[in-house]
Amino acid sequence: MDLLEKIESLKQEVNNTLVSNKDQLESFRLRFISRKGVLNELFNDFKHVSNQNKRLVGQALNELKNLTQSRFKTLVKDLEEKEGDRIKAGFDLSLPPVQNTLGTAHPISSVKLQIIKIFERIGFNVSDGPEIEDDWHNFSALNFPENHPAREMQDTFFIRKNPDIALRTHTSSVQVRVMENTKPPIRTLSPGRVFRNEAISARAHCIFHQVEGFYVNENVSFADLKQTLFYFAREMFSKDTKVRFRPSFFPFTEPSAELDISCLICHGEGCPICKYTGWTEIGGAGMIDPNVLEFNKIDPVKYTGFAFGMGIERITMLKYQIKDIRLFTENDVRFLRQFTSLY
Ligand code: FA5
Repeated sequence: MDLLEKIESLKQEVNNTLVSNKDQLESFRLRFISRKGVLNELFNDFKHVSNQNKRLVGQALNELKNLTQSRFKTLVKDLEEKEGDRIKAGFDLSLPPVQNTLGTAHPISSVKLQIIKIFERIGFNVSDGPEIEDDWHNFSALNFPENHPAREMQDTFFIRKNPDIALRTHTSSVQVRVMENTKPPIRTLSPGRVFRNEAISARAHCIFHQVEGFYVNENVSFADLKQTLFYFAREMFSKDTKVRFRPSFFPFTEPSAELDISCLICHGEGCPICKYTGWTEIGGAGMIDPNVLEFNKIDPVKYTGFAFGMGIERITMLKYQIKDIRLFTENDVRFLRQFTSLY
C-alpha cells in the first residue's frame, strides 16, 4: 500500500473511533498521537517520498494530523460529558459500593404478628376497621351511655367541627363493624392503632396499638374466655405464666375484668417492675353485654360471647423488658436493631 492509501485508511479509522472509557481513550492517544504513534512513523516515512509527490503527501499527512488532534479533543469532551451524566444520575461507578444493610420489622409489628399466629391456631381470623370512627361504632353501639366520661374531650380526639367523628379510642369499634356484617359463630381478632388524648409517659402514649378479640356463639362462657387468655399468655410469654382476672367495668361487657399476668421478672415474688405486686396488667375482658348483641341484631337469648382488648406495646414491653413506651416511636436504630432476630 502506498503512503497516500495508508493515510486515507487511517483517516477513516480516526473518524470511526468511539471510546466509552478512559482506557480506550488512552489506546487512541498511544496509537495516533504519542511519540511512538503512527503519525510520527508516517512523518519519518515522509523523508523518503520523492520530491514530485512531496506536496501531495505532505498535505494529506497534515490533514491526518489535524484530524487526529481534533478527534482526540472531541473524544475527551464526549467522555467527560458521559461521566458527568453518570455522576448527575447518581451512578458514579468509581465510588466504593454502599454497604447493603437489611431493615427489620418494628418490634410492635413483629409482636402483632406473633399474637395473630397464636390466635390463628385456635380458630380466630383477622378483621380490620377504620382509625377514624363515628360515635356509633366507637361508643353508642358498645353501650356507652350519652354522658359516659370516656366520651369527654380529655380522652378522645374529635374531628373539629364534627363531634360525631373521632379517632378511635379502642379497637372494640371493630367488634361492632364485624357484628353488623356477620352472623354467629364469629371468632375474630382485630389488631390496630388507637388514639387517646392522654399525657405521654414511660407507660402511656397518645397513639398506641391494641388487639381486640371476641367470640360469639351458642353457649360461650366465662370459662372459655379464661381458658383462651390463659392459653395466649402461656404461648406469648412462657409455660409457667399465670393469669389473673380482677373485677372491673366496661360498658360493653358484663361481667368485666382487668387481665393481669404474673410478673415475668420475679415470677410473682414482687419486684420494682411489678411494683411489688407480682402482677402486671395487659388488658381488659369480659362477657359481651346482651345490649351490644342486640344493637347489632344478634339474638342475646340464643347467643353469648366474650371479648378482650390488650395493649400491644404493653405486651411487647413485658416480653422484652422495655422500660419506656416512647422508645417505640423515637426510631432510634440502636433500639430497633436489637430486634433483628425476631423473624
Ligand atoms: C379498653 O380499651 C377496652 N376496649 C378493652 C376491652 C375490650 C375490654 C373488650 C373488654 C372487652 P383499656 O382502656 O383498659 O380497655 O385498655 C386496654 C389496654 O390497652 C390496657 O390494659 C393497656 O395495655 C393498653 N393501654 C390503654 N391505654 C394506654 C396508653 N395510653 N398507652 C399504652 N397502652 C395503653
